Amino acid sequence: MKRLALRGLTGRCRILIGESARNLAAYAPKNRTLVVTDRKVYGLYRSLLRGWDVHVLDRGEKTKTLATVERLQRALLRKGYDRGATLVALGGGVVCDIAGFAASTYMRGIRFGFVPTTLLAQVDAAIGGKNGVNLDRFKNVIGLFSQPDFVITDPGFLATLPAREVRNGLAEVVKSAAIADVKLFHFLEENADRALALDLKILGRLIERAAGIKVRLVARDERERGARALLNFGHTLGHAVEKTTGLSHGAAVSIGMAAAARLSAAWGLLQVREARRLVGLLDRLGLPTRAPEDKRRILAAIDKDKKKDARLVRFILLRGIGSAVIRPVRLDGLKEILNDLC
Ligand SMILES: NC(=O)c1ccc[n+]([C@@H]2O[C@H](COP(=O)([O-])OP(=O)(O)OC[C@H]3O[C@@H](n4cnc5c(N)ncnc54)[C@H](O)[C@@H]3O)[C@@H](O)[C@H]2O)c1
Repeated sequence: MKRLALRGLTGRCRILIGESARNLAAYAPKNRTLVVTDRKVYGLYRSLLRGWDVHVLDRGEKTKTLATVERLQRALLRKGYDRGATLVALGGGVVCDIAGFAASTYMRGIRFGFVPTTLLAQVDAAIGGKNGVNLDRFKNVIGLFSQPDFVITDPGFLATLPAREVRNGLAEVVKSAAIADVKLFHFLEENADRALALDLKILGRLIERAAGIKVRLVARDERERGARALLNFGHTLGHAVEKTTGLSHGAAVSIGMAAAARLSAAWGLLQVREARRLVGLLDRLGLPTRAPEDKRRILAAIDKDKKKDARLVRFILLRGIGSAVIRPVRLDGLKEILNDLC
């Protein structure tokens, strides 16, 4: 097992990579813990939850609402959980976000921990202490920073993950490697096929390295005023693509990363062959690198997203594989070159 520690403003989080979820009782007292999960994960892992008090949510992004949080908090009250209680999320990023927010606001904050079951949640969503839900069509606009007490990262869960969700997670691993770890990038190039085939040894290595990158960036900048923003590489365009095309998050971020790499090369920051290397890896992972839709709609979506920053978008660009910078980019300039970019 590999242990990482993240010291945040609200407390210290232990991240236990390779720990078995069967040992949950060592981290959360069974008689004072409510486990939150979604219907699909509950169906798959019911036996693991025998003897635990469980609250089951519907699955998917549409569940990430204040109404769901309210129902969960009512359940906590009804069942008599007080300030000494622990809330555990067993599931993907959706369950973690809901449970983290509900725990952090219930009785002004109770202890909580995550057992992430998707690759995306293991390398990204469960780490860093951002907890939030959606309001209307705005993603993650209601939330707070609050560190979980523990994250139990058991790669065994990935055995049941659908291919699309595996690719979603791998897109975030590519992102971490591209911004901060050229060795991890090389390892992914060497092992792309084995990762896609759910080789748990390879996935375990990827999780360790990608989680480590996120921990380091969050430790430097928990509130995302600087370094943490590098983790948004591919996400500015990615979110717009996700909104306009309905592609999965990983696929949309992949298009965003490819476009950002091409822009980095066009501006002379990144060698063209390095940009091609990134696009090549995304291709091999079965991720798209060009947007299928009308580009004007994508830009309109960025426009809506970024109203507050006037006409400037904070774009993450690459200086090399493993090295990223934040650059303000004028939206007009981006519009002109977008057709070539994605
Ligand atoms: N808080 C953060 O810092 C942060 C960071 C990144 C993403 N997020 C959030 O995370 C969410 C996306 O997370 P996600 O991709 O894990 O989505 P998700 O939680 O919706 O899970 C994806 C699907 O996989 C299923 N699933 C989960 N574990 C499984 C398993 N082991 N086997 C089979 N199926 C399984 C789920 O039921 C669901 O249908 C988004 O809401 C995003 O905003 C948060």
